[in-house]
Amino acid sequence: MTATPLVELRGIYKRFPPDVRANEDVSMAVAPGEILAVLGENGAGKSTLMQILYGVYRRDAGEILVDGVPVEFANPGDAIRHGIGMIHQEFMLVRSFSVAENVAMGTAPLKGEKFDVRAVAADLTALAQKFGLGVDPAAIVEHLPVGVQQRVEILKLLYREARLLILDEPTAVLTPQEVAGLFDVLRALKAAGKSIIIVTHKLREVMDISDRVTVLRDGRNVGTRITAETDEPLLARLMVGRDVLLRADKQPTPRGRSRLSVADLSVAGHDGELRVRGLSLDVHGGEILGVAGVDGNGQSELVEALFGLRPVVSGQVALDGEDVTRLSPAARRTAHMAYLPADRRNVGSVGDLSITDNAVLGAQRTFARFGGRWRDRRAAAAHASALIARFGIRAPGPDFPAGKLSGGNLQKLVLGREVARDPGVLVVEQPTRGLDVGAIETVWAELLAQRAQGRAILLISAELEEILNLADRIAVIFDGRIVGTVAGAGADVAALGLMMAGRPVAQYGAA
Ligand SMILES: Nc1ncnc2c1ncn2[C@@H]1O[C@H](COP(=O)(O)OP(=O)(O)OP(=O)(O)O)[C@@H](O)[C@H]1O
Ligand SMILES: [Mg+2]
Repeated sequence: MTATPLVELRGIYKRFPPDVRANEDVSMAVAPGEILAVLGENGAGKSTLMQILYGVYRRDAGEILVDGVPVEFANPGDAIRHGIGMIHQEFMLVRSFSVAENVAMGTAPLKGEKFDVRAVAADLTALAQKFGLGVDPAAIVEHLPVGVQQRVEILKLLYREARLLILDEPTAVLTPQEVAGLFDVLRALKAAGKSIIIVTHKLREVMDISDRVTVLRDGRNVGTRITAETDEPLLARLMVGRDVLLRADKQPTPRGRSRLSVADLSVAGHDGELRVRGLSLDVHGGEILGVAGVDGNGQSELVEALFGLRPVVSGQVALDGEDVTRLSPAARRTAHMAYLPADRRNVGSVGDLSITDNAVLGAQRTFARFGGRWRDRRAAAAHASALIARFGIRAPGPDFPAGKLSGGNLQKLVLGREVARDPGVLVVEQPTRGLDVGAIETVWAELLAQRAQGRAILLISAELEEILNLADRIAVIFDGRIVGTVAGAGADVAALGLMMAGRPVAQYGAA
């Protein structure tokens, strides 16, 4: 880079108590009109570095320069005034407000006591048109699909005249089609001279969208490459420090009896409309049944109903031949059903509690002493330490609060807890979302080990690649129904794609 970078970080250090070195002497820069990818394993320090740049955290040492001039940000407001905006993974929108109201909040000039929402809406229409965002300023946020809500966040930053947009794992919540749409928007922003930093775990996305890529490992910058001069295996090695072969080693396993049986199940969504409509499936011991489908076709409602978190309108769920349709979540756990929810932070864990407390959540009885009044602290801590070691969870120790783990490490903790409960049936929803390639290898191997032990695994994933690698059979879900089931081995991707779009393919290798 010859021109002055738009933003430069020099020798950034950040330490969290007790002794987490999240960033160590990190330097990096982004030029005007450049898309920079930031890559690194779970816990490598990516989000911390971005939040320092956005004024959320204060650095312990180092410098931040904007247009070559040193700056101090006490809060995100300061960062925005310098043209730096960030979109977090959890969106910060008021769901019942319109797009324009969300953007107007806190920024628009006041007209009497009210926001001048009309003026904002007019500006937004112009901005949306300029960058191909396709957002209606009058739309109510909660009615918008996730991909469009994300565009509202982008609009919000553009309205505040951001010159650098930081996106922390923006594609983790998107369908493949939405990812393509987001990347079109990013290219339009780049063409208009905006700079972008995108944090992602997906090497394919790095290759696809970025001009340069900075790799963090253990809090340090271990290399910056021009994207066109590198490739996926090189980046994986730089990131993990060893070769990564993303291929599941799947051994033939005898298929047992049906352990999870769902018959003619109907489930309603929040609005009372049916989201699952007469769905049936069986998962056998020693089998992984993959449910493939575009997000939002009833997957979450199905999973919540299976686990007793959402009432069933009609139909039946049986576990090892026993009707559990009306059982509470706790009773289902006792019946050896385990669940890895897609939302690990809000549904799967309690952030204020330690890793140990989270590791024994739902299994308090196993770790009880003297008839249940007291916890066997030593056994619980040993269990947590074992999970930390087995899943390579990056944490200072078992007393560390779960809420302070990086996204990927929290995920490994919740999965570890669930498989450790010795379940007969394991329901996993987006098990590798947000994980780095090394961690994906670990999770895939773990799911296959569970299968080898005769467990029945229901795998719900928006990643077709993951389903193709793991599933013995693939059931395609569309509009709340299974529209076809095929053998996993040698499955035809094009045919699966058609089925996922709602077009059943007749006579195709039914299983
Ligand atoms: N508020 C905090 N208090 C203590 N430790 C923290 C805090 N926030 C982050 N950490 C620790 O700092 C390290 C870096 O975390 P960070 O969230 O930056 O990683 P990341 O690269 O974004 O990972 P992921 O890909 O999993 O999101 C981790 O070990 C994490 O546990
Ligand atoms: Mg992160």
